[in-house]
Amino acid sequence: MPTVLSQSGTSILKAYAEATPGSARLFARASESFPSGITHVGRFLRPHPVYVDRAAGPRKWDVDGREYVDYFGGHGALLLGHGHPEVTAAASRQLSRGVHYGASHELEVEWAELIRELIPSAQKVRFTVTGTEATHLGLRLARAYTGKQKLLRFTGHFHGWHDHVAFGDVVPPGILPGVAEGSVLCPPNDIARVREVCASRDDIAAIILEPTGATFGQIPCSGEFLHQLRAVADEHRIVLIFDEVITGFRVSPGGAQAHYGVTPDMSTLAKVIAGGYPGAAVVGRREIFEAMDYRGDSAALQSPRVAHQGTYNAGPVSAAAGIATLRAIRDTDACARANATTDRIRRELNEVCRRRSIPWCVYGEFSGFHIFTNPDRASITPADIYAGKVAPAKLKGGTTLNLLQIIRAGLLLNGVDVAGWPGGVVSAVHGDAEVEATALAFDQLVTGMLEAGCL
Ligand SMILES: Cc1ncc(COP(=O)(O)O)c(C=O)c1O
Repeated sequence: MPTVLSQSGTSILKAYAEATPGSARLFARASESFPSGITHVGRFLRPHPVYVDRAAGPRKWDVDGREYVDYFGGHGALLLGHGHPEVTAAASRQLSRGVHYGASHELEVEWAELIRELIPSAQKVRFTVTGTEATHLGLRLARAYTGKQKLLRFTGHFHGWHDHVAFGDVVPPGILPGVAEGSVLCPPNDIARVREVCASRDDIAAIILEPTGATFGQIPCSGEFLHQLRAVADEHRIVLIFDEVITGFRVSPGGAQAHYGVTPDMSTLAKVIAGGYPGAAVVGRREIFEAMDYRGDSAALQSPRVAHQGTYNAGPVSAAAGIATLRAIRDTDACARANATTDRIRRELNEVCRRRSIPWCVYGEFSGFHIFTNPDRASITPADIYAGKVAPAKLKGGTTLNLLQIIRAGLLLNGVDVAGWPGGVVSAVHGDAEVEATALAFDQLVTGMLEAGCL
């Protein structure tokens, strides 16, 4: 049963703490081991994160036995939901046949063939384990192929945590200034600025972006912008990289590139590619990958190649899960179903905002939704956001940490776990029951916040 919130913001956090004593106990232990008690910044929540015990389909249960509709979706990996029967069976079968052969195997071949069948830019494939590694390798390949050094990327777009991409306008400690100088940052969607940069210097090796916009479209990006980038990259012999770590096999079976009809030179893929198991890849044009070709003769050994090793590349369990996942995506309407359900979620949540006369606005495309908390309380609709009427910095990063905590804790109290940006990703197995439960929980959250005077 949903809990009606009738307390101040602080009391919402307190009510959450009281409802989740098992999580509180685990967090006390975790704080002894982990910085801030957490293993990923996306799991940060005060007074404590929720500790999950098990998950199935679109739901998960915490250590206190409370049930949640899940919008983390394995950080976007679980387009087919938790524990999809075919994916689980494929991974279990492989577990008993060996988890690491230290050798080539048939599953990696079949996995790559499926990727090449689905993703338009995938002439060649190189497996990594994480999306971070995929962008790291993709950028290295682009530099080797072009003989140029710099990288053009967009403020707010996320490409993992390696040194070349883990900063925006502010460079955090630990990143060498020389590495930070390797990036030219442009405002998102500003094609004039991109043209200016590429025309005024000849050292840009690659342009990389999230093709539906930063954080799965929290700062939206249009198909037209992708076409424009393709033309700029062609004109200046720059490698265009779509970071499809989250959008690949999710927006459509062929990712954002198939949806928009723009083929990049390279793409980075992770998350859905291995159905929730560790696995990722960088894919792209054949000739770019020649820079890492290894012929095994002495000349090749002496000539420098693009280096890439990795103990867990193309692990057989991940390959088995990945094959089952990609087959299901190819052979069913999983992407379309997730997209349609998310459309309903966005509409239902906006209906709550309208009915309650609150200035929030829920937007997004495909299977992602974003809650814009509208700090200026201006009159904003999703159409305004797509028309570029809201500054990118307001869309991403405009919600205070305190408000984020209240939203997350208030929704958790009412049986829904949203990601902290705030928003979420939806699977093909979220259905009517989840849509209704989410709308109700959102209404309860808003009710509680209005009563508490914190909205
Ligand atoms: C667009 C994008 N690129 C790269 C990454 C990094 O992937 P990973 O967390 O597997 O290193 C992420 C992760 O969320 C992502 O969304």
